[in-house]
Amino acid sequence: MIGDFPLDKIVDPLLTWFQGNARVLPWREEPTPYRVWVSEIMLQQTRVEAVKPYFQRFIDALPDVCDLAACQEQRLLKLWEGLGYYNRVRNMQTAAQTVMEEYQGQLPASYKELLKLKGIGHYTAGAIASIAYKIPVPAVDGNVLRVITRVADDDSDIMKQSVRTRVEQALQAIMPVDAASEFNQALMELGATVCVPNGAPRCERCPWQDFCEAKRLNHWQDLPVKSKAKPRKIEKKTVFIIRDGEKIMLHKRPKKGLLAGLYEFPNTEGHLSKEEAMSWIREQKLEPIRIQQLEPAKHIFSHVEWHMTGYVVRVDELVENESDMLFVEVADSEEHYPIPAAFGAYSRYMNMRLGNERFEMKSEL
Ligand code: ADE
Ligand code: SF4
Repeated sequence: MIGDFPLDKIVDPLLTWFQGNARVLPWREEPTPYRVWVSEIMLQQTRVEAVKPYFQRFIDALPDVCDLAACQEQRLLKLWEGLGYYNRVRNMQTAAQTVMEEYQGQLPASYKELLKLKGIGHYTAGAIASIAYKIPVPAVDGNVLRVITRVADDDSDIMKQSVRTRVEQALQAIMPVDAASEFNQALMELGATVCVPNGAPRCERCPWQDFCEAKRLNHWQDLPVKSKAKPRKIEKKTVFIIRDGEKIMLHKRPKKGLLAGLYEFPNTEGHLSKEEAMSWIREQKLEPIRIQQLEPAKHIFSHVEWHMTGYVVRVDELVENESDMLFVEVADSEEHYPIPAAFGAYSRYMNMRLGNERFEMKSEL
């Protein structure tokens, strides 16, 4: 248990190890508060290697808080396209606007003030405060919870807020005041590269191997303890790629909820047969000429799974009608309309040349 373990032991070996083993990462080169913030939000959803190109593109497009605060929504979502959890970037923009209005464009150099900003929780506030401002506060993410519960052989449930708070307090007590940035990053780095989440930890490379309790007791398989989340809800959908010669039909999702405000291919509940799909198309006041069924696809969100089937439908002509659909030039669609990765399996049909052999299905209608 954390309370019984002499946690101060971990500090020096960890800092020494980090000096020789820190990865070179773009946001580490120049850890300004803004760059740390952007990178930490991105890293909450994707691994380091995947984040790198997104980070660079985002920073090039929006180099400072004021650019983020002023960025037009569609452009912002486009910059985030593929990372998922779009509300995180919306929250970042709201926070950036607050920083412009209330903090003269500078992220506050205070853990408590950072916590007040939209989308900044204990972890992110701790990361910005310690990495950018060298303030000695912990930054406890999943990596840190794993390495700490293992070294101390603590089987508390890390899904509980009370356990996270206990880990924060334990780390606060041993925090090296002049090396908070290195200490926090080293904990994360150890979790990401040595005491890894999937598969066996590389204990032979670990600076804590001489005193780690999980290693001594061979308990690493059982740690950390995580209570099971509720099973995800499964939603069946039929997705339509609806095109005439030049344009494709898109739909803007509602302002609230999952993937709020992003564009999507028109879709409806359930797995429709070809006949049902044709009826649905006609209900949209469109005249289908050809239809072809596409492969099934799945997308997993944190609380929901979409099980999708799709159709490419060639229609006579897309003309504006009273529906809330948009008709956009095929050539423009990918560049200007952020379509979430959930529809990724079908995006390639968006630009496919129509009228080719694979698509000709006239005989079936
Ligand atoms: N994962 C999330 N943030 C990180 C950081 N600053 N260093 C290493 N891994 C991380
Ligand atoms: Fe993890 Fe092994 Fe290091 Fe213990 S010794 S912290 S189990 S890598």
